[in-house]
Amino acid sequence: MPHTSHSLLTVGEAASRAGITVPTLRYYEERGLVHSQRTAGNQRRYQRLALRRLAIVAAGQRVGLSLDQIKAALDELPADRAPSQADWSAMSRRWAGLVARRIRELQVLESSLESCIGCGCLSLGRCSLINPDDAAAEEGAGSRWARRARDAGT
Ligand code: FES
Repeated sequence: MPHTSHSLLTVGEAASRAGITVPTLRYYEERGLVHSQRTAGNQRRYQRLALRRLAIVAAGQRVGLSLDQIKAALDELPADRAPSQADWSAMSRRWAGLVARRIRELQVLESSLESCIGCGCLSLGRCSLINPDDAAAEEGAGSRWARRARDAGT
């Protein structure tokens, strides 16, 4: 369906309706989360479906997803129409899985942090938060990694 110029939103209108600032909208556009078209005077104009995409960006951020994760989901949507109820249902189901995974990761971090409470050893060998990937072991005894950690403390 063709879009008349008055069915399109200016950058200020789109940002205001989405509850974000103009620089944020521009940033989202640079990241490929939303798209605009240009007028003859090279001004941005947004179709109303952009508001749905921006609502999805806000929802994704609210549940803690990265912009890359949100973009991956938006890239699966058809570019020529607003996301449907079925689109959103499928997307939210996938996001629920990502959130569940993040919760498990945070629970592991919480448990690691609890082992540090009252410890304070800051041991490169023992503390999984100070040395999460055992990077010092990979570089060998007296490693640069260990020296960097020591020097950072002085
Ligand atoms: S500070 Fe000792 S285990 Fe983390």
